[in-house]
Order: sequence, then structure tokens, then C-alpha cells
Amino acid sequence: MKSPAASPSMIGREPDLETLREQLAESSEGSPRAVVVGGEAGIGKTRLLDEFRAEASRSALVLTGRSVDLGADGAPYAPFTGILRQLADDIGIGALLDAAGPSRSALTVLLPELSSIEGLDSPGTAARTGVERLYELVAVLFENVSRERQLVIIIEDIHWADAATLELVRFLIRMLAGGKILIVLSYRSDEVLRGHPLRSYLPELERTRRVVRWELGRLDRAQVATQSEQILGCPADAATVDRVYQLSEGVPFFVEELIGIDHLGTGDDLPETLRELLLARYERLSEPTQHVLRLISAGGGCVDHEVLAAVFTGTPEELEPPRAKR
Ligand SMILES: Nc1ncnc2c1ncn2[C@@H]1O[C@H](COP(=O)(O)OP(=O)(O)OP(=O)(O)O)[C@@H](O)[C@H]1O
Ligand SMILES: [Mg+2]
Repeated sequence: MKSPAASPSMIGREPDLETLREQLAESSEGSPRAVVVGGEAGIGKTRLLDEFRAEASRSALVLTGRSVDLGADGAPYAPFTGILRQLADDIGIGALLDAAGPSRSALTVLLPELSSIEGLDSPGTAARTGVERLYELVAVLFENVSRERQLVIIIEDIHWADAATLELVRFLIRMLAGGKILIVLSYRSDEVLRGHPLRSYLPELERTRRVVRWELGRLDRAQVATQSEQILGCPADAATVDRVYQLSEGVPFFVEELIGIDHLGTGDDLPETLRELLLARYERLSEPTQHVLRLISAGGGCVDHEVLAAVFTGTPEELEPPRAKR
């Protein structure tokens, strides 16, 4: 088995890119805009935003924050911490503090490392100054930076965002007074089930005229054929395209997974079901990883780390995920 193949170029999505470009152009006139892109897992939200980032970076400073699935353990404002670190890397800490203005000490809530700078309060002191001040500070900071250079702020996967992040995003979208600022959010629509905070949050955001929201659609058969051809380097036969289209249902991630299966070109070795597709993915994993997955599957849907560690025969380090790169 080979690894899943990446698609060399993005198929379709021209209208989606066009809308993003339009909003970028609008915001370059000094009126802040926001775009919210939804869609099911694997439909291509990240790919679209990656392509847009590459384009937008020619004229704007693009900062990206991500929400991760940490449940209650997630630090508040985590995506903004990432965004401000990128901003500090780009313009320098001194310029960042200047742009933040007199309330800059509240920034230590988002960037704890700033508290070592003389003259700035500790995060504890700043936290007591209230969220309103923090929100205004972030708005002023972005407005000031955008005077020099258009800003694009991307926050991916807001279905996992902590409540504090969502509040700050809402504040920025409503209250930014001006500035060449485009905020781009993405969310996985199949995670937004009944009771999910985004259920009411998104329609409310949309009532602000600055916001454009849409969901990415599935690829049609011709687009799946093009994606398959690009990955394979030659056209797939009609029967293979039919099968890949049927099994993937036009979700680009599944097209890549299917094409990653050996002998696809012959058409005889295609999985019959999604179960087989997932098993094919499992077979591509290393033996130690497969071992962990087998242990987890024996424990049912959810296995505590301690339980897993007790039955795992390897070292504790092998059970730890690799450290995330910043
Ligand atoms: N339009 C496209 N053309 C070619 N390849 C695509 C396209 N859209 C997505 N892909 C590929 O499909 C895979 C899944 O896409 P992506 O990671 O962007 O999905 P996603 O919507 O962000 O999913 P998730 O909800 O899991 O974050 C990636 O390898 C990506 O490069
Ligand atoms: Mg994604």
C-alpha cells in the first residue's frame, strides 16, 4: 500500500476563491470584512484557504490560528495566541507593543511570554482588567497594524474553538471601526449538531452585513475524474472513475484515499465499502501504530490514557503524540 496521494492542484473551487478575492478587495478599501466557510470533513476547507493564503500573501499579511479538539482542556484564546505570535515574528515585538497602544499590558493574557518585558504587568493583573479592555486592545492593535499593511486573519476549525475565542471573534467582526482587515473562519458542518454553540452563533454573525457565509459543495463526477487523473498522472478508466465517484461521494479527501490504494488503475482492487477504505488506511500505518489501534478498538469507543498505558507493552514515550510544532 502507498500513502494517500496528495492532489497536485486544487480542482474546482474557482467561485469560492473568487468570493474570497472579492472580500479581500473590499477590505483593502478600509472596510473590515468577514468570511465564514463551512463544509463536511475532508471537503477541502483547508485546501481552499491554503490556496487563498498563497494568493493573499502577495498583498497582505496573512496570520493563521487554529482551534484544536481539546475539549475543556483547551487554553482560552489559543488561536489568537498563535496569530499574535506570528504577528510578533513578522513585525517585531516592539512594533507590536507600539501598535497595541497604552493598554498593551493586557496583551499578556494572550501572549504570556510578554510578561517578562519590563513595564508590562503579569498576566494575572491584566486578566483582572476585564475582557472588554482586552477585546478593545486587540481591535486597536489590528486596526493600527492594518494601516501599514492589509491584514488577513484566518481562524480554522472554529467548531472546536473555546468560548472566549468565539466571543473575541464576534466582538472584532462587529466592532472593528475600520482598517484593511479580512477575517476568515472555517468550520466543519458535520460537527455542528444540535446544541453546538455554533448553531446560534453563526446565524447571529451573519446578521452583521460584513459577513459572507457559505458551505463548500462536493465535487461532481467530472471533477473527481480530474482529481484522479492529476494524482495518477494519467486518466483513470471510466469504470474506475465511476467507482471512485460512488465511494467518495465527491469528497476530495476520500478520492485521495481511494487513489492511494494499489492497483487502482486495474479497477479490481477497489474497496466495496467505507469499512474497507478505512482498513486500507489502517494497513498503511506502521506496526506499532496498528498495535495501539488494536488495543483501543478492544476497549470500545473511548479508552482512558491510563488504561491504555497499562495494557500497552511499549514505552510510555511511544504512547505520547509527537510534540506539535509551533
Ligand atoms: N478542490 C480540491 N482539489 C484537489 N484536492 C483537494 C480539494 N479539496 C481538498 N483536496 C484535498 O483533500 C484532502 C482533504 O482536504 P482538506 O484538508 O482541505 O479538508 P477539510 O475540509 O479542511 O477537512 P477537515 O474538516 O478534516 O479539516 C487534502 O489532502 C486536500 O489537499
Ligand atoms: Mg481542515
